[in-house]
Amino acid sequence: METKLFSPYEMKGLTLKNRIVMAPMCMYSCEKEDGIVTDWHVAHYTSRAVGQVGLIILEATAVTPQGRISHQDLGIWSDEHVAGLTRLTEQIKQNGAAAGIQLAHAGRKAALRDEIIAPSALAFDENYKEPKAMTVEEIKETVEAFKLAAERAKSAGFDVIEIHAAHGYLINQFLSPLTNKREDEYGGSPENRFRFLQEVLDAVKTKWDGPLFVRVSASDYHDDGLTVEDYVTMGAWMKDLGVHLIDVSSGAVVPARIKVYPGYQVKLAEKIKHGADVATGAVGLITTGIQAEEILQNDRADLIFIARELLRDPYWPRTAAKELGTSIEPPKQYSRGWLF
Ligand SMILES: Cc1cc2nc3c(=O)[nH]c(=O)nc-3n(C[C@H](O)[C@H](O)[C@H](O)COP(=O)(O)O)c2cc1C
Repeated sequence: METKLFSPYEMKGLTLKNRIVMAPMCMYSCEKEDGIVTDWHVAHYTSRAVGQVGLIILEATAVTPQGRISHQDLGIWSDEHVAGLTRLTEQIKQNGAAAGIQLAHAGRKAALRDEIIAPSALAFDENYKEPKAMTVEEIKETVEAFKLAAERAKSAGFDVIEIHAAHGYLINQFLSPLTNKREDEYGGSPENRFRFLQEVLDAVKTKWDGPLFVRVSASDYHDDGLTVEDYVTMGAWMKDLGVHLIDVSSGAVVPARIKVYPGYQVKLAEKIKHGADVATGAVGLITTGIQAEEILQNDRADLIFIARELLRDPYWPRTAAKELGTSIEPPKQYSRGWLF
């Protein structure tokens, strides 16, 4: 059977060998608290490249020390991070995958010893610190940090940059009216709440001309929060700003109960794809090849992002191929054990 999951995907001069993307997943493994790539990161990401994933997106990588979720996060706030990241992209690419990085700032969701910042001085809940409301100068410095991070990502050899605007982290805190109570040009109207992301994208583009993704939380799951319709509008704005693909997740902006079930976020990716006429990635409880193929064949999303299933099974592309009754090229070293 001719599958879509294993058909190549082209964007801006980059060809992915299949539609399988390893979704960003924090490993909290920089024990020295320096943000530098460790042997663990190399083993972990290289295994998934050997496992034939098309595109591997590194975990949330902090653009400033203050933007880390934890002290053990990966970082890209200094030139000293570039050597380790280069080692990673080389290994990923030598094993046939493309390499992406998620550039991130945690904002009020940083669990750090020092001061934390956000659009407004509102804590996520009683387990988090109250952040300091950012000054306009701090906003400009953070935009600059994303720009420098993009420049470093380019010199480290990444093929794709994904901006983390989801899960209630800093950019998401600007987008949502639940977390952004500012009265200046960065708060109030949808255009104002979008301004920080727009400035980040404009700054990144001065250093990066490759494929650019944005991860969003397409529902706040709150009566006064953002809905997928808001993200259809913003998706069109992002497309106009040169974003190639929107990676559609949801929630985690404010504490909320979310009903989860297989593929629960796919309908959000589908709505944004057709409503904003932009490529999307589907993510969330997609665990089988049949589910992935259904999403692609029905034109509900363009790429399939897999997170936890790839922790359980680094060779998930082979598992999915088997399920779909097709076979994929093994790494040549594994050819004697690959076919079924
Ligand atoms: C261990 C772990 C770490 C994660 N870290 C990140 C992250 O760094 N950035 C992000 O956008 N999402 C992160 N996520 C969310 C995943 O990318 C994904 O959206 C979510 O797990 C749902 O997909 P799944 O059902 O395939 O696991 C993380 C998830 C897990 C399980």
